[in-house]
Amino acid sequence: MSLELAIHHLRRAEHVAVLTGAGISAESGIPTFREAQTGYWAQFSPQELASPQAYARDPERVWAWYASRYAACQTAQPNAAHLGLGHLEALKGDGFTLVTQNVDGLHRRAGTRRLIELHGDLGTARCEACSSMQSLPAPSEFSPPPYCQRCGSRMRPHVVWFSEQLPPASLEAAWQAFAAADVALVIGTSSLVEPAASLGRLAKQRGAYLIELNPEVTPLSKSADLRISATASRGVEALLSGLAAP
Ligand code: OAD
Ligand code: ZN
Repeated sequence: MSLELAIHHLRRAEHVAVLTGAGISAESGIPTFREAQTGYWAQFSPQELASPQAYARDPERVWAWYASRYAACQTAQPNAAHLGLGHLEALKGDGFTLVTQNVDGLHRRAGTRRLIELHGDLGTARCEACSSMQSLPAPSEFSPPPYCQRCGSRMRPHVVWFSEQLPPASLEAAWQAFAAADVALVIGTSSLVEPAASLGRLAKQRGAYLIELNPEVTPLSKSADLRISATASRGVEALLSGLAAP
């Protein structure tokens, strides 16, 4: 269990799969979900804001909450961990896949191209009737929610809510990337929400070297070949500076 060994595996790896959660954006000033005091779910009930029932009941309130999160994410900047993963992609090319549970858009803004946004994207609205998508022009807390330019029905945030299935094509691509990975790197997620929580274990079962980067222990920790107990930016920087060393 050493950083040097992890760097050795990372250097040799043809296929690298990365999973990120809210913790990677904490250093950009975006709250996580489950941390006591500061996490979203410490202040709000997910059932009241992040479920289809909540949107049916009170669309203005739910829309306003997502709009305010979108506005906060637009103001935030990608941090050294997001940027470092962009460099890792540049090193690994087609063998690199980044799967994120985050809807904040920071990986895209940091330049990651082989990106699977499993839980959607705060900057996009989706029609409830015909599923057509629309980029949200500017972050604003406008209310009521927008209406579809194609069919006139109400739109909703393009995010996955509790009780909803993940988009099958994205999930399948994520499984494939983790099943094929030589190194799997799981950063800043509590590893509590399925199916994303199982991706690291799947990679490990298929022979990957599994690295967990998280200041706290999670249910995935016991499966990890290496646990880096650090913030996302420090951990990613340590891995990348090791890769850059001769
Ligand atoms: P959580 O809030 O469950 O977990 C955040 C994790 O980030 C915790 O394990 C922290 O220890 C870790 N963390 C905190 N600060 C960190 C830092 N600076 N660097 C690295 N790690 C840090 O967030 P997720 O695991 O992303 O789903 O939550 C998964 C899903 O649950 C979310 O996508 C969301 C939520 O309900 C939906 O909204 C569908
Ligand atoms: Zn429509």
